Amino acid sequence: MGTEGPATRRVQVSEHPRLLKLKEMFKSKFGSLPKFYVRAPGRVNIIGEHIDYCGYSVLPMAIEQDMLIAVEPVKTHTLQLAKTNPLYLDFSTSANNTEIDKTKLLWHNYFLCGFKGIQEHFGLSNLPGMNCLVDGNIPPSSGLSSSSALVCCAGLATLTVLGMSLSKMKLAEICAKSEHYIGTEGGGMDQSISFLAEEGTAKLIEFSPLRATDVKLPSEAVFVIANSCVEMNKAATSHFNIRVTECRLAAKLLAKHKGLQWDEVLQLEEVQAKLGVSLEEMLLITEDALHTEPYSPEEVCRCLGISLQELRTQILSPNTQDVPIFKLCQRAKHVYSEAARVLQFKKMCEEAPDDVVPLLGELMNQSHASCRDMYECSCPELDQLVDICRKFGAQGSRLTGAGWGGCTVSIVPAAKLPGFLANVHEAYYQQSARSLVPEEQRLFATKPGGGALVFLEA
Ligand code: GLA
Repeated sequence: MGTEGPATRRVQVSEHPRLLKLKEMFKSKFGSLPKFYVRAPGRVNIIGEHIDYCGYSVLPMAIEQDMLIAVEPVKTHTLQLAKTNPLYLDFSTSANNTEIDKTKLLWHNYFLCGFKGIQEHFGLSNLPGMNCLVDGNIPPSSGLSSSSALVCCAGLATLTVLGMSLSKMKLAEICAKSEHYIGTEGGGMDQSISFLAEEGTAKLIEFSPLRATDVKLPSEAVFVIANSCVEMNKAATSHFNIRVTECRLAAKLLAKHKGLQWDEVLQLEEVQAKLGVSLEEMLLITEDALHTEPYSPEEVCRCLGISLQELRTQILSPNTQDVPIFKLCQRAKHVYSEAARVLQFKKMCEEAPDDVVPLLGELMNQSHASCRDMYECSCPELDQLVDICRKFGAQGSRLTGAGWGGCTVSIVPAAKLPGFLANVHEAYYQQSARSLVPEEQRLFATKPGGGALVFLEA
C-alpha cells in the first residue's frame, strides 16, 4: 500500500452535481473547459494531538469534505487561480516565479506550496501554466485541515499537468515539507491521511519511514465533529511554532540530561529511541530531568551550555525568537502520554472488548485533558463544547487538530446519535454568532472517507 500513486477515476460529470457546477463556473471564468479534476480530503484526528512533529504515530481518518480543483493546462506559463467562493480573490502569477509571501495570509499561498513542492522535487525550472478553479467544503480554520487539503490538491494537480507520477507516500512527504513555506512547522499527519486514506477505515500513521495501517473503528459508535465556531488559523499566530520549539528544546534538555549527543536531537521520539526505554519510562525520566516552572531562554542556554545567540540562530524559528518562557516539562509529558494513548487506542480497536466504546472514550477524554492542561492548546469554548458533548451522551470528547479553536471530535454510541445531535445543537449553537456559521459546518457525524483522487471526464 502506498507505493502506487493516487487513483484516476473516469466519471460522468453530468451525474455529479458538484463537478458539474464547477465545470460550468470554470467555463464562465476562463472561457474554456477543464481537462481534469483533482480532490483531496480534509481529516479529523481521532487521537494523537501535537505528536506527529515529535516523531510519534497519530490516528486520523479522512472526512468526506474536500478540496476539489478543476484544472486546465495552458501553454502560457501563467498560473491563474480562482475560488468558487467569491470572498476569496483571484490570483495570477508566472509559473516560474512563485514567491510565497509569509507575511500575508492569502489562500493562494497554500496552492503555491503544493505547486512548488512538485517543482522542486523534480528540479524543474520551466513550468507549464494552468487555469485552476478551486471549490472547498471543509470548514475553514477549524482544525479539519482545509489548508493541507489545498496543498495536497495543488501538488496532485501539478503532477498531473506534468504527466508525471509519484507514490502517495512520496506525495504526502513532498506536500508536508512544502507546506512549511507558509511558516508553520507542522508534522506530516494531514498530508499523509489526505493521500493515504481509504474509505471505511481510520489509519495509524507512523513516520520515518512513513507508514499507514488500517484501524477498524467499532461499528457500534459514531464519530461526531462539532465546531466551536472559534476560528483558528495556525499561520496567523505563533502558538503552533512555540509548541514545536518547546518540544525540540525539551528533547535536547532530556538528551543532555541522559548524556546523549543532544545537539543532533530534534524530536522527543529520538530521545526515547536512543535510550531504548518505554513511553512510561520516558514520563518518569521527564519528571526527573525537567522542572515544572517555566524555563527562561537564559536557563535553557545555561542547561545546554550555549549562548543566547546560538539558541536564536540554531534552534528557534523566526517567529519564536522572543518567546519569554518555555514550559518544557508539561509539553514533554503531554507528548509521551499522548503517544501511549494512541497505541492503546489502536490496540483496543483490534481487541474490541464488549466495552470498547467507553474505553476508547476514556482515552479521548484523557487526551483532551492533557491538551488543555499540559499542552495548553484548548480554549474556553472547546472546553465548554466537550463538556456539552459528554453531557449529552458522548463516551469521550476532545479537541481535534491544532486546537486554540476549531472542532471537537466525540465518540457517540450509534443508538444515541439523533438525541445527541439535537441536544448539542440546542446547548451550543443557539448563540447568535455561532448560529451564523453555516449549519453543515457546525455539527455532523462522519465516517472514514477515501483519499486524494484524479477525475477524468468519461
Ligand atoms: C496541525 C498540523 C499537524 C499536527 C496537528 C496537531 O494540523 O498540521 O501536523 O501537528 O496540527 O496534532
